[in-house]
Amino acid sequence: MKNKVIHNLRIERIAAEGKCVAHHEGKVVFVQNAAPGDLVDVRINRGKSSFMEGEAIHFHEYSKDRVEPFCGHFGICGGCKWQHIHYDLQMDYKRQQVVDQFTRIGKVPIPEVNPIIGSAQTQYYRNKLDFTFSNSRWLTREEINSGKEFERNALGFHIPKMFDKIIDIEHCYLQSEPSNEVRNSLKEFALNEGLSFYDLRNQVGLLRNLIIRTTSTGESMVIVQFGEDDPEGIEKVMAFLHEKFPSLTSLLYIINLKKNETFHDQEIVTYAGKDYIEEEMEGLKFRIGPKSFYQTNSLQAYELYKVAREYAGLTGEEVVYDLYTGTGTIANFVAKQAKEVIGIEYVEAAIEDAKLNSNINNIYNTRFYAGDMKDILTPAFASKHPKPHVVITDPPRAGMHEDVVKMLLQLAAPVIVYVSCNPATQARDIALLAEKYQVEKIQPVDMFPQTYHVENVVRLRLKP
Ligand SMILES: C[S@@+](CC[C@H](N)C(=O)[O-])C[C@H]1O[C@@H](n2cnc3c(N)ncnc32)[C@H](O)[C@@H]1O
Repeated sequence: MKNKVIHNLRIERIAAEGKCVAHHEGKVVFVQNAAPGDLVDVRINRGKSSFMEGEAIHFHEYSKDRVEPFCGHFGICGGCKWQHIHYDLQMDYKRQQVVDQFTRIGKVPIPEVNPIIGSAQTQYYRNKLDFTFSNSRWLTREEINSGKEFERNALGFHIPKMFDKIIDIEHCYLQSEPSNEVRNSLKEFALNEGLSFYDLRNQVGLLRNLIIRTTSTGESMVIVQFGEDDPEGIEKVMAFLHEKFPSLTSLLYIINLKKNETFHDQEIVTYAGKDYIEEEMEGLKFRIGPKSFYQTNSLQAYELYKVAREYAGLTGEEVVYDLYTGTGTIANFVAKQAKEVIGIEYVEAAIEDAKLNSNINNIYNTRFYAGDMKDILTPAFASKHPKPHVVITDPPRAGMHEDVVKMLLQLAAPVIVYVSCNPATQARDIALLAEKYQVEKIQPVDMFPQTYHVENVVRLRLKP
């Protein structure tokens, strides 16, 4: 079947993970780079007994629901794959994904899923972007066919599924200024100075990675990762950024000689300014360090947390467990309406931030614990702490470990609010919780416009 071309397939709908679905001779065909309504020829690149996967190579008819993508990098960059779909439809598809996952995987009775809460900003909504330097820029087919010589140094994003190929980004619509200015100026400076861009295959090169974080209060953090311990080169780069962008409130760097770009275990040097930035929500301050997680769409995080708080139904008397608390953002956000909040999270540095965030906001009814959820949330833990009236849980994409779900069944809190960035694992976990819980409300929230990702909040009530 591989490489076979199937002609005239009508794209019917969008399934999980943004894949377009068509049918051919009774088999499902998942199609890349199409939109529901398109009539396409598809080159198959994977065939299984029950389904096929392929790429649209010729369009006979374009869907009437298509819109013109606004970004020049669309189609190559993996960042915003749904720009060709009208935002209203993106929202419908995301809501439908939640319905599908709960029907197919959850198989539990559910109420009507609420319309998704759309993001007020559909561009420039991210507060964090991560760019990679590479000496192996991705060349388009036209560039290769032209036979010309091109600059191969690049600063941008990984091409999906190609670890060493980087698309050079000229303008990214995901983050507001100074993001584009900082990236482009630094690249130009590095090219003029002849500084080396990282060679991802051979693991050499001075300039490795650039992280830009911004806040709604106007603060910004820039972190440069260097792949070589070259004090002169590092000073050149950092002095350039410091002079050119005096408004950066936190300018940091890392010398990372490891094989991968992760830096949770690396020393971070403060070149200028503070070693954190501060976000604000409902008068609360959240301190964000270079290693801290913070929801990437700040404005929409507020909408998400408001839904979680409303679903928790707090009166001031409740003990709340905030599982997978990260830097304690939800815990601190609901603390004023609760008797006590207990937050648990894997990353120790995040727990330190969570405590700090309580302190700087004069919140004294929170307690935080660091460790793997399944090892912390145990019968022994439950016996030493007050029983929860409400559990808020916000696990990573993989969902909750089965032992954690079992523990929640044992704890039998009257209300569970389950926040998730992956409705498939959320539906799986809720199917297990259905032994004692019924689904009362479902509210999808769009945190990531122009992508297929959907966040979903579910309120579960203990069955009588
Ligand atoms: C989706 S984030 C939630 C963050 C937080 N609720 C917020 O809104 O900022 C999931 C969190 O779970 C943590 N985590 C992942 N696996 C874990 C585990 N096995 N035990 C405890 N925490 C874990 C991650 O470090 C991350 O902070």
